Amino acid sequence: MTVVVLGGAGYIGSHAVDQLIERGYEVAVVDNLQTGHQEAIPAQARFYQGDIRDKVFLSSVFEKETVEGVLHFAANSLVGESMQEPLQYFNNNVYGTQVTLEVMQQFGVKPIVFSSSAATYGEPKAIPIKETAETNPESPYGESKLMMEKMLKWCSKAYDMQFVALRYFNVAGAKWDGSIGEDHSPETHLVPIILETALGQREQVAIFGEDYDTPDGTCIRDYIHVVDLIEAHILALEYLKAGNPSSIFNLGSSVGFSVKEILQTARQVTGKEIPAKIEARRMGDPSTLIASSEKAKTVLGWNPKQTDVRDIIASAWRWHELHPEGYQSKK
Ligand code: UFG
Repeated sequence: MTVVVLGGAGYIGSHAVDQLIERGYEVAVVDNLQTGHQEAIPAQARFYQGDIRDKVFLSSVFEKETVEGVLHFAANSLVGESMQEPLQYFNNNVYGTQVTLEVMQQFGVKPIVFSSSAATYGEPKAIPIKETAETNPESPYGESKLMMEKMLKWCSKAYDMQFVALRYFNVAGAKWDGSIGEDHSPETHLVPIILETALGQREQVAIFGEDYDTPDGTCIRDYIHVVDLIEAHILALEYLKAGNPSSIFNLGSSVGFSVKEILQTARQVTGKEIPAKIEARRMGDPSTLIASSEKAKTVLGWNPKQTDVRDIIASAWRWHELHPEGYQSKK
């Protein structure tokens, strides 16, 4: 039996593939390599290059594999880009999920674990954010993730399939040996931007706004280590395979760090100066996002291990030092 990982060549998907293989699962990766990296896929996984919106292609993968479940990471994920290109987000994310569900239904595959996002909540009314909080996305990206969740919900009611949607907070870090990690082009996320600056690849870090209603004026986020995040996916897959009902879980560490605190921690971890300057706010950034992850701990038995933000940054730093040019560094 095979676990199909859609988007398995991307940053988070590749860590899922790695962990699944380490635990003895058979894995098939589906990725169009639009943002993913073939170098991130281990030899033990079978790789099918193609687009999940191509139903003939996706059906052919399910034809070849005996699929026990799907992990779905294949989506565009930049909030800012989605504001400029909303249709790209609805097409790739929402339509891609529709085709995935059609193929799963056709082949009688029941469980799907879906990468959702804290962006489904929008500006929170209460902190920490619980799964019961109102969803009011403030970007087409967040809206697309909410639409995907709703498709899963209605399909799970109508057909013999079940889902877990995992709403990620700020994912960072890399596998401890530094063999796989974050390699986006363009990079927009805070931790890799800080570390690229530490490597001297950027002149300075732009801090987007110092006038938020937080103790130091910069935005507060909840950072979660990518390997802990993947642990929750595997627990969710087993939860569904055991016949449990569809559900939605937040994944965060329940502790918030400001942009300045992350910068300061990165300076300590790397021993580099890392110049920074204050710039204008970035459109659409909520001031504080902190998860309540109690539900994932109680229901899934999730027990995140890398909860110290220094360790999260240290693991990302190892990847960046070993791969200063990302996956291209190997060539
Ligand atoms: N930031 C800077 N300078 C930068 C980059 C980021 O100051 O160069 C700040 C942002 O303004 C924000 C914080 O650092 O306050 C974190 O920004 P990221 O871009 O790293 O992450 P976001 O919080 O914007 O978004 C992430 C994911 C989204 C997801 C969201 C949910 O990238 O996909 O978390 O919380 F929807």
